[in-house]
Amino acid sequence: VPAAEEQAGTQDRKVGVSKTQDSKGLVDVQPVRGTRDFGPEDYRLRQWLFDEFEAVSRLFGFEQFETPVLESEELFVRKAGEEITQQLYNFEDKGGRRVALRPELTPSLARLVLAQAGKLSFPAKWFAIGQCWRYERTTRGRRREHFQWNMDIIGVPGIAAEAELLAAIVLFLERVGLSSEDIVIKVSSRKVLQAILERYNVPEESVGPVSVVVDKMEKIPLDKVEEELAALGLSAEASSGIIEATRVGSLAELEGLLGVGNEAVLELQQLFSLAEGYGFADYLQLDTSCVRGLAYYTGMVFEGRDRAGQLRAIFGGGRYDRLLSTFGGEERPCAGFGFGDCVIVELLRDKGLLPSPPHEVEDLVVVMDEALRGHAAGIAQRLRRAGRRVDLVLESKKMKWVFKQAERCGAKRLVLVAPDEWEQGLVRVKNQATREETNIPVEQLVDV
Ligand code: HAM
Repeated sequence: VPAAEEQAGTQDRKVGVSKTQDSKGLVDVQPVRGTRDFGPEDYRLRQWLFDEFEAVSRLFGFEQFETPVLESEELFVRKAGEEITQQLYNFEDKGGRRVALRPELTPSLARLVLAQAGKLSFPAKWFAIGQCWRYERTTRGRRREHFQWNMDIIGVPGIAAEAELLAAIVLFLERVGLSSEDIVIKVSSRKVLQAILERYNVPEESVGPVSVVVDKMEKIPLDKVEEELAALGLSAEASSGIIEATRVGSLAELEGLLGVGNEAVLELQQLFSLAEGYGFADYLQLDTSCVRGLAYYTGMVFEGRDRAGQLRAIFGGGRYDRLLSTFGGEERPCAGFGFGDCVIVELLRDKGLLPSPPHEVEDLVVVMDEALRGHAAGIAQRLRRAGRRVDLVLESKKMKWVFKQAERCGAKRLVLVAPDEWEQGLVRVKNQATREETNIPVEQLVDV
């Protein structure tokens, strides 16, 4: 990260908290670069998004899990040269342990599955929504922390798992107002590269590191890619074979390149046919240059992009059948995806599809005479016990302020506790929508 970027914007962001404090006592009110605050308005939006993530996961019968943000560093140490491992927020804790803030959820999921393997039944379908940390160069939709919605299926070797995961993503996209006109899902398989490498007698273990290099093709010049492939021990022929394979444009062409009956081709055909069955085939596009930048994928890989190509990846995932065994556990087929909370919001905003969920209470309770405050408090509590959301005005306020507050908190009813009505066991209730005012017996307040 360039020093200039690190320093940019750090001026003029301090506020004096006290006149007597010197410059050292000034507090920077901005969150750390690349991170976000969620004030109430932003939090409501985030909650709306997370509720959608959760609702879709539950519609597919998935169970939720959570693991700590702080993990052992060793969980993320991989030698394939992935960007993600270079962006690790890692440090030594006070006990001398090497720890890291998780950059993704998948290694933690694998750890948890191994820890609980004895009591789990497979297949397991799990989802999580968790914060991840990556020391990235911040751009539109890319931050140093983000939340990721993950859905993973543990224990299913067939493409039916990938298809089900994509169906969940598509259902989410449709629920938030997007369609295949807005989103393309690029799919391919690591088995394409595997088949090419086999031809040149390159061992299977190289598929991961080679994919990590090929994934950079969009970002770095071709000769750099070739150089990096050579550094992995690939011959010039193998290297150009790989690059040629990333340029394949159709399944028929892929079959021509890899031969009839090739596993990657068969699996991709199966995925497209299942997608027809689910009704989301129009989202899919075969793209053999989509290999993904994480080393652990072993089969199908996919990535969601905006059709206009303006933004970075919206979601990504694939099959990782060997991650558990590389952690020393029993080998178990797994597939899943990660869907971030940043790019999708940018896209929805661009398309005018972003909601602005309001602050909403049901009743605003106001006391018109401080002598009645105890009674008003009792009324508020009674309403809350009945499950109503109640904002109680805690000070003596002018009616003008009360009306404003009723708007601010989206109250459906204004409940006025005033002396004359109270003497008769009544409270005045104003329906905010109809502006109608009625006197209601206290005991009926809950039912109305
Ligand atoms: P990933 O492609 O590294 O995959 O990340 C998945 C998604 O997380 C991205 O498509 C993007 O939406 C979001 N994301 C990643 N980094 C950032 C960032 N710096 N700022 C904002 N959003 C970001 C994985 O992490 C895999 N573990 C996914 C997976 C789960 N594969 C199988 N299961």
